[in-house]
Amino acid sequence: MKKNIGAKLGIYPTPIVVVGTYDKNDKPNIATLAWTGICCSEPPSVQVSVRKSRHTHAAIVERKVFSVNIPSARYLVETDYVGIVSGKNVDKFQAAKLTPVRGESLDVPLVAEFPISMECRLTHTLELGSHDLFVGEIVSCWVIEEALQEGGKLNPKKIDPLAFMPSGEYFGVSNFLDNSFSVGKKLMGK
Ligand SMILES: Cc1cc2nc3c(=O)[nH]c(=O)nc-3n(C[C@H](O)[C@H](O)[C@H](O)COP(=O)(O)O)c2cc1C
Repeated sequence: MKKNIGAKLGIYPTPIVVVGTYDKNDKPNIATLAWTGICCSEPPSVQVSVRKSRHTHAAIVERKVFSVNIPSARYLVETDYVGIVSGKNVDKFQAAKLTPVRGESLDVPLVAEFPISMECRLTHTLELGSHDLFVGEIVSCWVIEEALQEGGKLNPKKIDPLAFMPSGEYFGVSNFLDNSFSVGKKLMGK
């Protein structure tokens, strides 16, 4: 039996990303976001939803570029920290002992310690209500070499990403279950 709990956010889990921007003083900043995801394959695009009050929001509007970084589970404390304090008052890279590396294609800070970093160019902005949704075209995607496998596939265990439950908890995502576009075939032709 299921119970209707009303108009609630029922996507469990969402990804956890850390978005990087340079502000108007060229200071690198990062913020944790859970309202995010891949939104187009061609052109490769990612969406991030950001409240107007965030320092990150002003920087994306001004510069029209941002980075999307995937933290590993071992950076959980740093990831939560950069989601609690604002770059308006603090140099979060310095405080969290993380390293900003300027993008090769775009003027965005990438987090050197995180296994994946994408350089994104703003293509669409949608004012939704509490959040503005920014769509960024992924211009470059940087991945740690240890995660690269033959054929260009990435090894999820080497990335060790975080998942977020909108009830407020982080989870690890290390349990391999089966292959996509494959395990479902067990029900074909029955
Ligand atoms: C787990 C987690 C998820 C978050 N998700 C979002 C989000 O999707 N959108 C958003 O605007 N803020 C989100 N935040 C809050 C921002 O990260 C936080 O307000 C941060 O201080 C903003 O930094 P800034 O002012 O330097 O941009 C999240 C925070 C945490 C800890």
